[in-house]
Amino acid sequence: MIKRIWILTLFPEFFRPLLECGISGQALRGERNSDEFKFEVHFINIRDYSTTKYRSVDDSPYGGGPGMVMRADILRDALVKGVVESHGYESLEKLHVIYTSPRGVVWNNKVARDFGTRVLSHPEKDVVFICGRYEGIDERFLEKYVDEFYSIGDFVLTGGEIAVMTMLDSAVRFVPGILGNKLSSEADSFEDGLIEHPQYTKPAEFEGMSVPEVLMNGHHKKILEWQRSEKERLTKIHRPDLLKD
Ligand SMILES: C[S@@+](CC[C@H](N)C(=O)[O-])C[C@H]1O[C@@H](n2cnc3c(N)ncnc32)[C@H](O)[C@@H]1O
Repeated sequence: MIKRIWILTLFPEFFRPLLECGISGQALRGERNSDEFKFEVHFINIRDYSTTKYRSVDDSPYGGGPGMVMRADILRDALVKGVVESHGYESLEKLHVIYTSPRGVVWNNKVARDFGTRVLSHPEKDVVFICGRYEGIDERFLEKYVDEFYSIGDFVLTGGEIAVMTMLDSAVRFVPGILGNKLSSEADSFEDGLIEHPQYTKPAEFEGMSVPEVLMNGHHKKILEWQRSEKERLTKIHRPDLLKD
């Protein structure tokens, strides 16, 4: 089965590295099957749905204020004409529409896992991301067409593209079947509320520093105990806030 991800943006070229590189790239190009489906990513250039002479997609805000606001009618056409009507969807009900915005649920590992398993792995609905620009989007479009809002942190980006890439890169890891070794996402930082233990590889000696002895002796139980205590040690040093939970 094909699982389509639609990205409505003014800058489709932003996404090239995500789609070309690494495991996420393979997954999003459909070269790494999930247990149930293959991903396909499609772009809609919002500007193609402009009806103005200079192909603008924004206008000044009612009530005044700085900057410009993306028009609801143009975004509606990009979504309804560009996705629903042009690609055989029965209705908007077959799509899950996401807007990235500072007002959204703040992204973290737990939210990424939920998104990967509930939204990206949904058996019936494809996913649409709307990338905002300028001062954002006319509220009437958001009210009528957006199902969920996500923020990647308490700061302001100049556009939603980097937020969408962050979401996809971190959530696709949780789609069943995408990571070859399921244990690799389970062993990563945040999964047990701690950050990851230190990692070492060859050479065994580097600028006078050795690899911890315990990792060299092959004693599995002792290695696990060492990893656990190192996770706690590093979390105390670097992310003491995590220990409060
Ligand atoms: C310059 S921002 C608009 C900020 C908006 N005027 C505000 O104060 O909330 C342009 C676009 O970037 C995206 N964006 C900005 N910050 C974001 C964040 N922290 N998380 C996700 N998307 C963000 C949104 O799509 C937003 O519409």
